Amino acid sequence: MSKRVTKITKQDIIDILQSPEMQQSKNYVQHGSVSVYSHSVAVAEHSYKMAKSLEKLGIMFNLKSLVRGALLHDFFQYDWHDDWDLLHGWKHPRLALKNAHKQFNLTMRERDIIRKHMWPMTLLNFPTCREAWLVCFADKYCSLLETFKIYKYDYHEKEGVLS
Ligand SMILES: [Fe+2]
Ligand SMILES: [Fe+2]
Repeated sequence: MSKRVTKITKQDIIDILQSPEMQQSKNYVQHGSVSVYSHSVAVAEHSYKMAKSLEKLGIMFNLKSLVRGALLHDFFQYDWHDDWDLLHGWKHPRLALKNAHKQFNLTMRERDIIRKHMWPMTLLNFPTCREAWLVCFADKYCSLLETFKIYKYDYHEKEGVLS
């Protein structure tokens, strides 16, 4: 079992935030008027905050894997609204994992987070670590906020997450 990393700094995520692919994702819509970039950072930030709250109850997380996996959970470089694909929701976790795997050294937890975040849509691919369960939940929570336009974030200019 790998060691849980319970502290994280900007240095742990800057390679992802500054990658050309992440920067490019500012141009693609995720929900409503929220870009894939903003959505991904929002999911990472919400996951991080929820994990910090749960830590007070003694439930510990590998924060570095949690945040890195959350940032990469939708790591695909296209606007899924352009060529409407009914199966996008089902297909993109596998694609995001493939893309992320090419660019970054992923831990088992990060792989689990990316591949399983659309559960229960991906029926048999259910999260197998608590970090993946948390991101799976945070993704749905942020998606709801964005779909109903009740979010209060825009991460295009600031990097969010640990701020
Ligand atoms: Fe997704
Ligand atoms: Fe997402």
